[in-house]
Formats: sequence, structure tokens, C-alpha cells
Amino acid sequence: MRVPVLAINFKTYPSAFGDKALAIAKTADKVAKELGNIEIIVIPPFTELRRILEAVEIPVFAQHADPYDYGAHTGWMPITALKDVGVKGVLLNHSEHRIRLDEIVHLVQKARELGLETLVCADTPQAAAAVATVNPVALAVEPPELIGTGVAVSKAKPEVITRTVELVRKVNSEVIILTGAGISSAEDVAKAIELGTAGVLVASAIMKAKDPEKVIREMAEAAVKAIKK
Ligand code: G3P
Repeated sequence: MRVPVLAINFKTYPSAFGDKALAIAKTADKVAKELGNIEIIVIPPFTELRRILEAVEIPVFAQHADPYDYGAHTGWMPITALKDVGVKGVLLNHSEHRIRLDEIVHLVQKARELGLETLVCADTPQAAAAVATVNPVALAVEPPELIGTGVAVSKAKPEVITRTVELVRKVNSEVIILTGAGISSAEDVAKAIELGTAGVLVASAIMKAKDPEKVIREMAEAAVKAIKK
């Protein structure tokens, strides 16, 4: 994973499915290629993975994975199957889809064996430090109470970010640290990077935007500019 990172979680917004999802993914791909020096990651629902993977070259992550291989596991999503579909990585332990610590440990290890990247969410600086000891490629600290509010963590709770960076770096010097929750503008992205992260995990500001391209471009440009400082 390169930095800076703009990871777009499609969640299950209406725009996360069908032609709208494809259009947002293609836009992200276009902006990433134009700017060149940013990792824009799209994280669509399972149902959209194949179609989007066929249409873009930027990294595509799944929103979740289950600690199973192929077999009799009705309704679960084996991490091995995601690898075979062609995703570059998986998002794990999002606040809206939490998993147990032993499952995080297993899945990060399994992902590594499969050559998949991992982006693991944590709700507090302490949880982020715990996650960092498992050695994912990246982690994202997201205070749940700010998710989807439009009130940016980087403005409303900068201490969550600085404390996360401080605690995580005590146990892991490599993991890419991201933040998210309420990130709404280019300024929020720049602030997140100034506070010590390598980028953001964002959803509603893009998925609910009238003009997603404008938001993606502005956020990506701000990230590239801020990381150089
Ligand atoms: O995964 C990103 C997320 O939880 C933040 O959501 O809508 O506040 O950008 P949002």
C-alpha cells in the first residue's frame, strides 16, 4: 500500500450498488491515475466486486471477510474466495461489522499467507495499539460516535488521532495509520495527515455526494499536498 491513502468505503448506501457504484469506482480510478502519487482504494459490497475489479486498476478491497476456507459455511464469506475473486485486500473489524480479537489475529495472518493486504479498524487509540500488534498492513482509528455525522474526527477529536499515533508507534513502526469518521472536506483530510496519519477512510461524504468526482479529487489533492509537508 502506497501513501497517502484515500480509502473509500462504499458501505451499503444506495450508490454502493449497480451502475452508481461502478461510476464511483471508475472516477476514483481516473483521479488516482491523473494524480499518480496517491493510493485510492475502493471498498464496495461483495455483490459489486467482480464488476468493479474488471473495470478499474486501483486496489479494490472487500468490506469484510470470514475466517473460513471453501466448504459448508452458509452465508459466510471465506477470505480465500475473496482472494480468488481478485481483491487486493480486506477491510476488517469496521465499527458496523465488528469481529473478535482472535478472528482479527487469524484473518490478518491468513491474509498475509494469501498475499492480501489488511486494513483493520479500531474505535479507540488503545484498540488501535492492540490491533497494531497483530501487524496488519494498515489500521484506521474511527470514533464510532462521529461516523456518518459530517463532524470530522480530525477537527472534533484531534486527540484521538495524536494518541493513536503515539500508542501505535510504541508497538509497531511500520503499520500505515489512517483515520476516519465524519471526514467531509479536503481540509479534514489535510488535518488528519498533519496530525500524523497517512490518510483517511471515508464513506458518506463521497457516497452521498451530488458530485462524487469533485469530492474524491479535492480530498485526493489535499492528501497529496499534506503528505509532502
Ligand atoms: O469506513 C468509513 C467510515 O466508517 C466513516 O464513515 O460516513 O463518517 O465517512 P463516514
